[in-house]
Amino acid sequence: MKPTIIYWTGSGNTQIIADAIQESVEALGYECPSNYVSDVQASDVADADLFFLGCPAMSGEDVEEYEFRPFLDDLKPLITGKKVVLFGSYDWGDGEWMINWNQEMVDANITVAEKIQVQWEPTEEQIETIKATVTSLF
Ligand SMILES: Cc1cc2nc3c(=O)[nH]c(=O)nc-3n(C[C@H](O)[C@H](O)[C@H](O)COP(=O)(O)O)c2cc1C
Repeated sequence: MKPTIIYWTGSGNTQIIADAIQESVEALGYECPSNYVSDVQASDVADADLFFLGCPAMSGEDVEEYEFRPFLDDLKPLITGKKVVLFGSYDWGDGEWMINWNQEMVDANITVAEKIQVQWEPTEEQIETIKATVTSLF
């Protein structure tokens, strides 16, 4: 298994989830690089086989449009048939962005192994739940 994390964050909440994911995957003995989306090209990471993709809900119940959206559009055709875990923080939209994002992956023939969503900043208890969820994927 070759996991990788790519995320975008504006105010840090999604990064907290990314850090918890990295900690739990590495505790299992895997290397799990974690990159801010602007620091990588889709082609740099496409050889992984489990993608943890993180982005909060942004305007219009979508992923962030200037950095994460172009990356996602580049990545999708490169990872057809592979597995992703979608994660991120949201606020007022009741998680609608995650429903839209999940559907987009399904339409691209990408398997969504798990969806992790937290309103605002994750609590300690939510972090523990996230870690248990991630561990159960391996
Ligand atoms: C420009 C902007 C647009 C947003 N749009 C949505 C939205 O459509 N739905 C929603 O639930 N939250 C929306 N939010 C709230 C963020 O998803 C929420 O603050 C989240 O915790 C930010 O995560 P981050 O700290 O990882 O950036 C928006 C926030 C900003 C700044």
